[in-house]
Amino acid sequence: MAFPESFLQDLKMRSDITDIVSSYVSLKRRGRNMVGLCPFHGEKTPSFNVYTENGSFYCFGCGVGGDVISFVMKIENLDYTEAVKFLAQRAGLEVPQDSYDNSMSMLRKRVFEANREAARFYFDTLYSPNGRRGLDYFHSRMLSDRTIRRFGLGYADENWTSLCSYLRSKGFKDHELIAANLAVKRRNGSGVYDRFTDRVMFPIIDLRGNVIAFGGRIMTDQKPKYLNTSDTPVFKKSSNLFSLNNAKNSGTSVLLLCEGYMDVIAVNQAGFTNAVATLGTALTNEQAVLMKRYADEVIICYDADEAGQKATARAIPILRNAGLLVKVLSIPSGKDPDEFIKSKGSDGPAAFKALIEKCGNDVEYRLQKLKQNYNLDITDGRILYLENAAKVIATISSPIERDVYTSKICSEIGVDKNAFKQQIANRLRRSSREADKKHIRQIQTDLSGKNDKINIEHYKKPRSSSAEEALLVYLINNPDSYRDISSQINSGEFQNSLIKRYYEYVADRIENGLEPLTNISADFSSDEVSKLYQLMSQSIPAASTPEALREYINVINEECSKLNSNDLSSLSDAELRVYLDKIRKSKQ
Ligand code: GTP
Ligand code: MN
Repeated sequence: MAFPESFLQDLKMRSDITDIVSSYVSLKRRGRNMVGLCPFHGEKTPSFNVYTENGSFYCFGCGVGGDVISFVMKIENLDYTEAVKFLAQRAGLEVPQDSYDNSMSMLRKRVFEANREAARFYFDTLYSPNGRRGLDYFHSRMLSDRTIRRFGLGYADENWTSLCSYLRSKGFKDHELIAANLAVKRRNGSGVYDRFTDRVMFPIIDLRGNVIAFGGRIMTDQKPKYLNTSDTPVFKKSSNLFSLNNAKNSGTSVLLLCEGYMDVIAVNQAGFTNAVATLGTALTNEQAVLMKRYADEVIICYDADEAGQKATARAIPILRNAGLLVKVLSIPSGKDPDEFIKSKGSDGPAAFKALIEKCGNDVEYRLQKLKQNYNLDITDGRILYLENAAKVIATISSPIERDVYTSKICSEIGVDKNAFKQQIANRLRRSSREADKKHIRQIQTDLSGKNDKINIEHYKKPRSSSAEEALLVYLINNPDSYRDISSQINSGEFQNSLIKRYYEYVADRIENGLEPLTNISADFSSDEVSKLYQLMSQSIPAASTPEALREYINVINEECSKLNSNDLSSLSDAELRVYLDKIRKSKQ
């Protein structure tokens, strides 16, 4: 059973979209709308629009859109039911009892609970005789009991069913443990066993304090060294960061991006609570955008080894594109932050602080790396270095910043500044031409709908699809016109199955006297909701006149009568009847 319509309407009325969005995004008025930097993708100029009039939002940069409920779902990483409850609590509204029993929401709730119990169990085991090996391991890595408690670290013992038995005794079902990825099905199909055994455990906690996943480290040289929870209904590796829950309360606008759990924890123990790490994968755009919500600057603290340096080179543009200032920490003698701090004994915290204070920004880092590749004592080496340095400098968007590096390099190498500036200018022109071309190609593909993953049929049938889309938007904006429209057109004439689904949904709601879209996020996927709001945002006022409406209906009728025999074979009986009826009418 869904939420009662009256409750949802009340909820939406009390959840002003501008208020809600403003607590995540700083919005400015532009005409009748509000605009800001999109919280769902990295950008430097605002393309994220909030439409106060109809309580919706849409980003022209990444195509995400929806109403206040879908905004909260996305930004807080909640499902529909959870987002409604979140908004209800914020608005001081009571959620009607028993109005939701959506099975996915129930499962998510159970997975959160199972994870919480599991974290407690692993922690308790660590401090029990069974957990001796784990505790010794953490102590050997110089973690204090205070740090262990702060991160809720634990131990999964050698027994293959310890956690499963415990959680079963707490009322959890096998399928819930499997969904949480805390247990794995036995090959022979009978029963389950623990996913993590004989590993020290690192719980991953989201921004609301829920345990969403675990990382487990083996204490020997065996592989895999770390085992992480696979993606589950409550966890997506690529959109979470380890310890962001701590870092967001650190009171600074700088984040330290480390490679792994142990680095983050060691750095925390040394007094820097603003450290985070990705969860065993390369940094994603989503994670960079997430960081931008809590910080202006990121210091990359990856390992000094080759893999770490490669990862640094990959991370720099991702972070920059998310609008973050980027610095790169350089750790001496091939160490990772954990090893570095440990190697300095009681001076560790001070030594790490000194590293942070003297770390250079991403451009300095790239130039310095570049320089190592050339022999600057010979002319050829200097020329090659300068040519490549010009490429690096041409990626900087601020002219002042460019000038600073230009001067620096010229005096370093002893070359005329004008000549080097010329070289950079050539590069800039070239990349701006390339960017323009790329932009135009992008616009062309977008317009053709070729790469549209959601509204796939638009590309195949552009004429009928465009008319169907426009009619749908017209109907949503003018529900009173439903009688008139439905007397002239039937959803059986729609050829685009996605638009047909939207149309039938909206028509059904209007027939029942309901607002067309109040409950849209419950009935369509998040991508489908975005697509619908895209159609609405891109519609222009001229498309909303009665003359335009007549044209849409004409085109839909016309395209429907053009269907060929191939198309006919895929029609349902009802659709076929509508079609034949049309032909008969057109021949009269
Ligand atoms: P310690 O050896 O415990 O100090 O960890 P580390 O952080 O120094 O390890 P490393 O640099 O090898 O790995 C960094 C991060 O990559 C870890 O924290 C894990 O998240 C991830 N990682 C490392 N090894 C594995 C692995 O075998 N499997 C997976 N899935 N992730 C791994
Ligand atoms: Mn390490």
